[in-house]
Amino acid sequence: MDPIRHLLDEHALIMNEMAALRAAAEDLAARGDDAVPDILPVLRRIGEVMETRLEWHARKEEDTLFPAMERVIGVEGPTAVMRMEHEDLHGQGRLLRATLRELNEVEHPRIEATREQLRWSLAEGGSADVFRELSGQILQLIDMHFYKEEQILFPMAERLLGRAGLDEVGAAMAAFDEAETDARRCLTADR
Ligand SMILES: [Fe+2]
Ligand SMILES: [Fe+2]
Repeated sequence: MDPIRHLLDEHALIMNEMAALRAAAEDLAARGDDAVPDILPVLRRIGEVMETRLEWHARKEEDTLFPAMERVIGVEGPTAVMRMEHEDLHGQGRLLRATLRELNEVEHPRIEATREQLRWSLAEGGSADVFRELSGQILQLIDMHFYKEEQILFPMAERLLGRAGLDEVGAAMAAFDEAETDARRCLTADR
């Protein structure tokens, strides 16, 4: 497998999902609180995509492509920045899911840290503003992150690793996907 092609294909799949979030953010900006019931399914879906597809994608980069690059350029270069941005994205995903849970449990708010982080109370502030801010942050982060990988990091990987190095990374990615599929199958079987 061509590892860069594979990662680009995954970016495209994830961005297809994010198109719904872009539309939801526009709807929120136009209609405010009235839009919230309509966009909740989109937000739940995005929360799920960030916990599954996006998280696996990021972990795959961290476990296969980045180590191969780091053997050449060290660990303190651009891959360190990408790892940090992955953490930021995971954090935003967690915040989105926590906020959605909180909305359902607003009479028993359990997530004080989330409240503080948002500096909002869903009950007082109105959920449209909270979701508009969160959606905007997620879209900004993911747009910037994918742009940097596609324009800078991936071309750099192609230059650094050459055909043989890329083939090795491709094999590691195939093994990663297989292990991930097995793990998912076990999880489903446990249910
Ligand atoms: Fe990434
Ligand atoms: Fe990526």
